[in-house]
Amino acid sequence: MRLGWISLLALTAGLAVSTAQASPVTVTVDTGKPGATIDRHIFGQFAEHLGSGVYGGIWVGKDSPIPNTRGIRNDVVAALKAIKVPDVRWPGGCYADTYHWRDGIGAKRNARVNTNWGGVIDSNAFGTDEYMDFVDQVGTEAYVSLNIGSGTVKEAADWMEYMTADQPTALQQERAANGHPAPYKVALMGLGNESWDCGGLMTPDEYTAQMRLYGRFVNSFNTTSPTLKIAVGPGTDDTTWTEAVMKTWKDHRGWSFDLQGLSLHSYTVAGGWPPHAPATGFDEQAYADVLAETLKMGPLIDKQSAVMDKYDPDKKIALVVDEWGAWYAPTPGSKPGFLVQQNTQRDALLAALNLNIFARRADRVRMANIAQMINVLQAMIFTDGRKMVLTPTYHVFHMYVPFQDATVLPVTYDAGSYVEGHVTLPRLDAIAARGKDGKVYVSLTNLDPKTPLEVDLAAMGLKARAATGETLTAPKIDSMNDFDHPETVKPSPVKAMLSNGKLMLKLAPESVTVVELE
Ligand code: AHR
Repeated sequence: MRLGWISLLALTAGLAVSTAQASPVTVTVDTGKPGATIDRHIFGQFAEHLGSGVYGGIWVGKDSPIPNTRGIRNDVVAALKAIKVPDVRWPGGCYADTYHWRDGIGAKRNARVNTNWGGVIDSNAFGTDEYMDFVDQVGTEAYVSLNIGSGTVKEAADWMEYMTADQPTALQQERAANGHPAPYKVALMGLGNESWDCGGLMTPDEYTAQMRLYGRFVNSFNTTSPTLKIAVGPGTDDTTWTEAVMKTWKDHRGWSFDLQGLSLHSYTVAGGWPPHAPATGFDEQAYADVLAETLKMGPLIDKQSAVMDKYDPDKKIALVVDEWGAWYAPTPGSKPGFLVQQNTQRDALLAALNLNIFARRADRVRMANIAQMINVLQAMIFTDGRKMVLTPTYHVFHMYVPFQDATVLPVTYDAGSYVEGHVTLPRLDAIAARGKDGKVYVSLTNLDPKTPLEVDLAAMGLKARAATGETLTAPKIDSMNDFDHPETVKPSPVKAMLSNGKLMLKLAPESVTVVELE
């Protein structure tokens, strides 16, 4: 891992520009030096009341002809179960700071205008009880974002009482009357969202004042099932906000608040804001530009983590990258504010590169949520009426399931370089880990869209005789799946046997491969 990373740093500094290697690259995994655990929560998802992320994507209603269980799509639930989604952040995003939970409970729902996204009516048919049913059906965990922009501490505390009280309080009884006497588990709670922007344009001091109150007075009512608290963190490489939150946390005492996480939001937006790069139909320069942009996630995390280390050297507070992914120009003709974009093989690589960045920093980055799960931005799944299709990004999340709660293993290799115009990138990106099943897994991404890459897999401390797994390749850099062609991009099996003392794998251009060493 270190050599690969050093190589990447040298390349981004412009110190080394080599041509594609003709000879195989040796990738060596040291199975005897286990590192940090890759928390399964780095594979988290995000479902905002935005476009058809929830309505249509998850919720179709109990009377829909689309197969559903209590109004929740069966096909979507099955697909999400297969990628073992660890948590789903809800109801926003920016929407969270306008969300009032009472609009979405009980027999009579209050329809409201979604002022954040498209000005459409939100029926509030999908509210707290439906979200919790969805969480239960998928077998995931709840991550709720509190409204600290237009809500109150009391409103948020009441919401937690409604969800988690296990004693006969007024709100427990209201929940029971709505069909759920047993308490829900709220594993995670976000204390606001982007409070430096859509969450209220607060200064760091204004936010930390709110954070102290919400952090103190909004809690799980179920002592056997506490809720972890995640503060709003930065959205750029400016560290002022991180300093303020971490210092406030450091100074907390006695019965005051506590935190377990600090959020970081960082989208891959090539060419600057507003997002205008097309999601499909791009050339190789645009392919390279987007991958170069996404690799800035590593240095960004390192810069913010350095501030966290100053106040929290024991790494008690997790860095939670709870909004990340590619953000392109909307699909032409799609509804304004619905953030609809296609998803291509480039996005599959982008996902793998980011997951690798998080895994390498697993001691601090213990949670992340890609934006967003269904029909919005870098989605796993697209739906249209009763149709559903899985994206290339979904397939990467599926291939990476063995890395959930796995233990990082050092991996060394010469990354080489892939050069396109003004952009120089590492040609190879790899991580390795020992899965919970005891097996050794390696992920290998060939960023070069023109040239295959031969790797010789070597494992110190393991007599590997074979490498088996899956590879995600595509005919073109912008190959995608749509409702008429749902399997243009899908994983296919790979296997390499030991031959002449070598375990050789040929990585197709622009591909992601995950193998188990046997
Ligand atoms: O994911 C879309 C939006 O991006 C979220 O609502 C907001 O938090 C971010 O700016």
